[in-house]
Amino acid sequence: MRRLRLSQRAISTPSSPIRKLAFFAQQAEQRGVNILRLNIGQPDIPTPPEFFNSMKKFNNAVLEYGSSEGDVEIRREWSKYIKRVNNLDIPPEHFQITVGASEALIFAFMTCCDPGDEVIVFDPTYANYIGFAAISGVNLVPVRCELDSNFKLPEVAEIEKHISNRTRAILLCSPNNPTGTVYSDNDLKLLLEICEENNIFLVVDETYREIVFDDRPFYSIFNVAPSNERVIVVDSLSKRFSLCGARLGCLITSNNDVRKAILNIAQARLAPPTVEQFAAAEMLSILGAEQIEKTKKTYQVRRQALFESYREISGVSLLPSMGAFYSMVELPIEDATDFCRFMLTDFVYNGKTIFFAPGDGFFIESGRGKNMVRVAYVLEPELLIESANLLDLGLKSYRKNYI
Ligand SMILES: Cc1ncc(COP(=O)(O)O)c(C=O)c1O
Repeated sequence: MRRLRLSQRAISTPSSPIRKLAFFAQQAEQRGVNILRLNIGQPDIPTPPEFFNSMKKFNNAVLEYGSSEGDVEIRREWSKYIKRVNNLDIPPEHFQITVGASEALIFAFMTCCDPGDEVIVFDPTYANYIGFAAISGVNLVPVRCELDSNFKLPEVAEIEKHISNRTRAILLCSPNNPTGTVYSDNDLKLLLEICEENNIFLVVDETYREIVFDDRPFYSIFNVAPSNERVIVVDSLSKRFSLCGARLGCLITSNNDVRKAILNIAQARLAPPTVEQFAAAEMLSILGAEQIEKTKKTYQVRRQALFESYREISGVSLLPSMGAFYSMVELPIEDATDFCRFMLTDFVYNGKTIFFAPGDGFFIESGRGKNMVRVAYVLEPELLIESANLLDLGLKSYRKNYI
């Protein structure tokens, strides 16, 4: 048969850098190797029992479609939860429930941009933004951030240099994946001013909203601009409640035109999952600041264990991340992808090895991040300390054999 032609969109959508070495990990496991998985942001903290308890109460005779904008109950309870925990007043009507933050981001790109339009992002960036942009025909324009300054935002003039007549939005992720950087209220104000000046949207991904360490205050863009019509917030239940498999997120905006346009797109995909919305609504009505405080403390202890054990390794450099549960770590080698593969194919110590996500997959600007890995600290502190020992031994063995 003659080869069938695929779309440029499909061809140009990259595979996930987080999953690209998964095959080697699978083979290592088949050989009986125990892998400490630090490559993917899959929380290991148990999902709140409140979610599973309410799921058991679902007893409708037919599993019907829900509303395209999301069911009334989850929108109401999510709005109340944000009031209780973040002291923000966001009416339920401003919520569009989505299949994870992932769908919310695709909806935001599709609504704010035509194919060929540009969105500014800070580099390194959450790798799947690259996939969402490719699907929507959007060009991401990277603005450099550096490890030495813990990936803080560059000067306004530097950001403005990247704005063109095709720019439709700035996209910020705070707390940040992959860097763990948390942006200040001043950062948010400056970005909003740039957006005002250029009449573009400000999309803020607050998937990790409450996960902020060292008693640092966290500012939602809604603290800075409670009802600004150019602001779109993307949120998710995946991380703070270890609910990745429920596939529930939302897009929040006070802009009626945006919500109306998004609803049309949402209607074409019918509805988010019915049972999960039912259970999440009840869970949100029960949980509050206590649960999230506990989660935050758990990640802070891990952040400390990771930072203190990794910084002892010769040639390794990292700064303490401020939030979320990620760190970008520089290694004393040239090709981190090759090293990560080596750790899965050739290295084992006491039956164990480690799996990191190669850093270059998080950079849009080519050539950057080649000597970095992203570490997701989703394991107990003792295992993180053990992973530091494996990294130290792995680096020695890799350099002896390959350099
Ligand atoms: C910054 C960021 N945004 C969005 C997502 C997607 O989240 P969801 O599971 O809600 O689709 C992730 C998942 O890792 C993320 O890290």
